[in-house]
Amino acid sequence: MLLQTPRARLRRLLRPGGPSPLDGRTVLVTGASSGIGEATAREVARCGASVLLVARRAEELARVAGDITSTGGRATTYVCDLTDSDALDALVEQVLAEHGAVDYLVNNAGRSIRRSLDLSYDRFHDVERTMAINYFGPVRLTLGLLPAMRAQRFGHVVNILSWGVQLKAPKFSAYLASKTALDTWSRIAAREAYGDNVTFTNMRFGLVRTAMVAPTEAYDGLPAMSAEEAAARVVRALEDRPVVWNIPIGVAGELVGFVAPRLMDAVMWRLDQRTNNSAAASGQDAAS
Ligand SMILES: NC(=O)c1ccc[n+]([C@@H]2O[C@H](COP(=O)([O-])OP(=O)(O)OC[C@H]3O[C@@H](n4cnc5c(N)ncnc54)[C@H](OP(=O)(O)O)[C@@H]3O)[C@@H](O)[C@H]2O)c1
Repeated sequence: MLLQTPRARLRRLLRPGGPSPLDGRTVLVTGASSGIGEATAREVARCGASVLLVARRAEELARVAGDITSTGGRATTYVCDLTDSDALDALVEQVLAEHGAVDYLVNNAGRSIRRSLDLSYDRFHDVERTMAINYFGPVRLTLGLLPAMRAQRFGHVVNILSWGVQLKAPKFSAYLASKTALDTWSRIAAREAYGDNVTFTNMRFGLVRTAMVAPTEAYDGLPAMSAEEAAARVVRALEDRPVVWNIPIGVAGELVGFVAPRLMDAVMWRLDQRTNNSAAASGQDAAS
């Protein structure tokens, strides 16, 4: 569900198939080494943008950038652990020195943890590490890039969030709280930056078939977008700059949760009873 701005609707009407607003722009995509971020980086480059790819795995970034440049696109890689504040500040400094203001920022890098409450009592670090990559990292990066965006009076930030911020799905308390924090922070930042033509889109995705969801057996067989389909939505959001992008079930869940919160608790409790923790979440996987 894309709430288009009147300007975007007019642009599509007047120039169907015309050049993308991303053409000639600089777009920074975090988590560009796999999944939605990789597909987004490829699509943004196809639109004519110079794409800056950020993630930890240097070889994967080089693979994606190599593919982009070999087909005539423009791509630069930056290896950075976005949970490392010093590394992130150095990244901002380097990007601004090499490219000047970034026009578009996609806060995509993230980590999901699906673990029930009863397995989480002695795992406060789940809360800390989801906040580190899903909230503190993107906020610090956005704060670093915002002054140059505001000074040039153009900028757009897309946050890759989850329908879970609306559904408040069981077993995702740490993950969804961190995504909700970014959602809320960005809505308020958007109000303050509005007069400088710097805007934000919060995208609440449903299930996307990527490496992130692979360990969760409960998702096997459920309908899901491909990373490429998700990337097409991200590019559309970059071009049209809507305030929010939702899928209908997220909106429906939010409405029912607002009108009948206790009923929603009961429904979610019952659904929760019917699904197990994954093997990884139960502790068999040391990295989980
Ligand atoms: N898949 C879904 O169903 C779904 C649904 C809703 C929202 N999302 C969100 O979509 C985003 C992308 O996820 P995905 O599904 O495409 O999974 P993915 O393929 O696992 O991608 C995650 C990306 O984040 C990067 N990343 C993780 N930790 C990082 C760190 N500390 N510093 C820098 N980069 C880091 C990873 O790169 P490196 O490992 O190379 O650092 C990777 O490129 C996430 O924010 C996720 O929460 C996914």
